[in-house]
Amino acid sequence: MQFLPPDRYGDAFADVYDQWYADLGDGADLAAFLVARGVEGPVVELGVGSGRIVGALEASGYAVIGLDASAAMLARCREAHPSTAIVRADMARVPLAPGSVGSVVVAFNTLFNLAEPGAQAAAVASLAERLRPGGHLVLECLTGDGLFDDASSSVGVRSIEADEVVLTVTKLDPDAHTLAGQHVTISESGIRLRPWHLRISTPAELDAMAEAAGLERVERRGGWGDDDTEVGDRHVTVYRRPV
Ligand SMILES: C[S@@+](CC[C@H](N)C(=O)[O-])C[C@H]1O[C@@H](n2cnc3c(N)ncnc32)[C@H](O)[C@@H]1O
Repeated sequence: MQFLPPDRYGDAFADVYDQWYADLGDGADLAAFLVARGVEGPVVELGVGSGRIVGALEASGYAVIGLDASAAMLARCREAHPSTAIVRADMARVPLAPGSVGSVVVAFNTLFNLAEPGAQAAAVASLAERLRPGGHLVLECLTGDGLFDDASSSVGVRSIEADEVVLTVTKLDPDAHTLAGQHVTISESGIRLRPWHLRISTPAELDAMAEAAGLERVERRGGWGDDDTEVGDRHVTVYRRPV
């Protein structure tokens, strides 16, 4: 599959995102994690989507700037959080002044939507410049452990109802460390495609990107909750721009 334009994923998923990913929660654990570590705002959330975690961040006292490439996602975010600052932009090119940002949060694997070679490293370098000295870059990502060991393609059933089936079709490229996929909704009214494309960077690769950008790693753990200390299939990593 060709690389997708930055707004394609969000525009295709905006109508189902909150319903399909309701089990992710509202980000209260994420907000508590930031507060406990003294992470400062304003918080720029890259790929803010429909604003799943915005309410929890604001309830914790953070000013939030929600950035997303998708007009459809941002329309949902605006509806849910009318007073939150919104920026429509590609996260590869964040249009905020150097040194102006307290922290950048990239939740739920969103950095990996930058699937083209070198795009994540370029974004991390650009984000590091936007941070104030002492500012934090906080990532939640899949580790990718074992992901590319099995079959290189699969078709699974995401949901099945009397009048609709959603299939998930995935193709892995172990050399490029990419996954290209489609959620395919089939119903009597037709077929709807929701494409996605991810480049999985290992934790070590992310560390190398951050180091090249002048950031230091502060912490890595398995998730946002107090008990999520061990890294499993995902990790939360905190980087800091030195003072
Ligand atoms: C997996 S969703 C995450 C939404 C939200 N952060 C959450 O945790 O539920 C990824 C979001 O990133 C956005 N996105 C994907 N690629 C992007 C890009 N290159 N620039 C800006 N936003 C992008 C999509 O539109 C979508 O809203």
